[in-house]
Amino acid sequence: MSEIKKRIVVLASGSGTNLQAIIDAVKTGRLSYVDISAVISNKKDAFALHRAKSSGIETVFLDPKSFINNIDYDKKLVEVISSYSVDLIVLAGYMRILTDNFVNAFGNKIINIHPALLPDFGGKGMYGKHVHEAVLKSGREESGCTVHFVTTEVDSGPIIVQRKIPVIPGDTVESLSKRILKEEHKLLVEAIEKILVIPAKAGIQQN
Ligand code: GAR
Repeated sequence: MSEIKKRIVVLASGSGTNLQAIIDAVKTGRLSYVDISAVISNKKDAFALHRAKSSGIETVFLDPKSFINNIDYDKKLVEVISSYSVDLIVLAGYMRILTDNFVNAFGNKIINIHPALLPDFGGKGMYGKHVHEAVLKSGREESGCTVHFVTTEVDSGPIIVQRKIPVIPGDTVESLSKRILKEEHKLLVEAIEKILVIPAKAGIQQN
């Protein structure tokens, strides 16, 4: 396998436990061929930025208030990410909808983790606890998490990996999200491994 590491950039808006799972997998060797070039956030106080700094990873805070609109914001985001020449962009709890320009700039190099079994409970307004609220309200006996490629249609890109989690009677948003989040951490690492590490080990060039 090539000595050249695969470079990723992680976009996160919140606590960053999924980011932490990636950092840990890089450290413990499961993703040893992955280099986290930077963590970018739209939230100054995102704990994800703190996690990145603690692990010596470059951080970038891009303030939405400094841009006239989403198109301009994402234009800057494309510029920043392009400077790292990345192999993959990972949305790990990134709570902004990406513009078509952004998605088209990176082709199939963007993946997202979603806390439900897509295609159900996805799309605009379906993020974070809203997803779990909707699942509980629906009376479904099963939820889970999905990692998928990002396309211009929100939460609709091809699914890479998915894991089912039962909804237990008496579940609350907190209990269900906690159980799913634990599984998300494994699933996200698995997806990155599947996209970057396994093909690299097999000697397949990813462009
Ligand atoms: C995760 O549950 C992730 O699936 C969800 O936000 C949480 C972030 O947690 N993402 C979305 O809802 C995106 N639509 P984290 O900051 O601890 O990784």
